[in-house]
Amino acid sequence: MTMFDLKSYIASAYEHKSLPGGLSDTLLGLADAAIEIAKLAANNGLDTPNLGGLAGGLNEDGDSQKQLDVMSDDLVCEALSAAGVARYFSEEQAEVKILTPDGQIGVACDPLDGSSNIDTNLTIGTIFSIFDMKDCVNDLPPMGRKQLAAGLFVYGPQTALLLSFGDEVAAFALSEEGRFIRLEWDVQIPASSTEFAINASNAAFWPAPIQTYIAERSTGGAAKTSAMRWLGSLVADAFRIFRRGGVFLYPQDSRTGYEQGRLRLIYEASPMAFLIEAAGGRATTGTHDILDIAPTSLHQRIPLIFGSADEVKHIIARIAQ
Ligand code: F6P
Ligand code: MN
Repeated sequence: MTMFDLKSYIASAYEHKSLPGGLSDTLLGLADAAIEIAKLAANNGLDTPNLGGLAGGLNEDGDSQKQLDVMSDDLVCEALSAAGVARYFSEEQAEVKILTPDGQIGVACDPLDGSSNIDTNLTIGTIFSIFDMKDCVNDLPPMGRKQLAAGLFVYGPQTALLLSFGDEVAAFALSEEGRFIRLEWDVQIPASSTEFAINASNAAFWPAPIQTYIAERSTGGAAKTSAMRWLGSLVADAFRIFRRGGVFLYPQDSRTGYEQGRLRLIYEASPMAFLIEAAGGRATTGTHDILDIAPTSLHQRIPLIFGSADEVKHIIARIAQ
């Protein structure tokens, strides 16, 4: 097996694309932070108090912050600052953080996605979006299509990274020596699939087309081969979809506060959509491609449906009926 690591992959991207100088340091800084987060997660309760415990605060979106959320945010912020990143848009920060005023690169990040699963020993992760500051409008990141790169780290049985500069998705796993080594995995999401991921306990609140679609997958003709999977950790559900297809849905619903769904545009939906499209899948609000949506606020929520292209197309058609 060729031992092609993250550093060489980034170097080869520079040969094929015109990328800003600071992007390499930004990605390598994020990788270093991810290695530290993975260690913290693996040693939870051994050499630290319980990192799934509450840190005492709420983030801007009203989620209670766990110890590991706050520690991950600090690690990412320090790494980005050392890499000369201009601005850091974080799930865990009320406002954008100005790190290097004359820097060229901006980063949006969910430092620890799936944090309700820290204690359950399920896969958690870090999602990031990287863009050129000159594409920012109103001090917010540009629409997703303008991202320079996006990716996610997962801390599961393997610590892994999915990374895209827009034309393909490269997968890496962390070796014992602490290097991200590229996997021989051509990350292509199968166009069709029978697995779906949704929090079915919200069924009564969903829009009618989503209720119809899930009912059709649960009891209709495809029922015998359909399966529902929901981990409550976006990165974990997404990683499964990158491996073997399927769809993920977090639509808007009629509960107060869920008028635009649950997930946040700039540091969850947008980087996820960038990866999904680069892997041949689709990501939509139900009516618009996620990558075409320009943010209007830092913690803006967005309905999110992504995964196998044909299945997402079918859902879009149901919504349009
Ligand atoms: O970060 C938000 C998140 O925790 C995702 O990781 C996950 O997919 C979703 O929220 C779970 O939401 P709910 O608890 O409403 O099912
Ligand atoms: Mn999250």
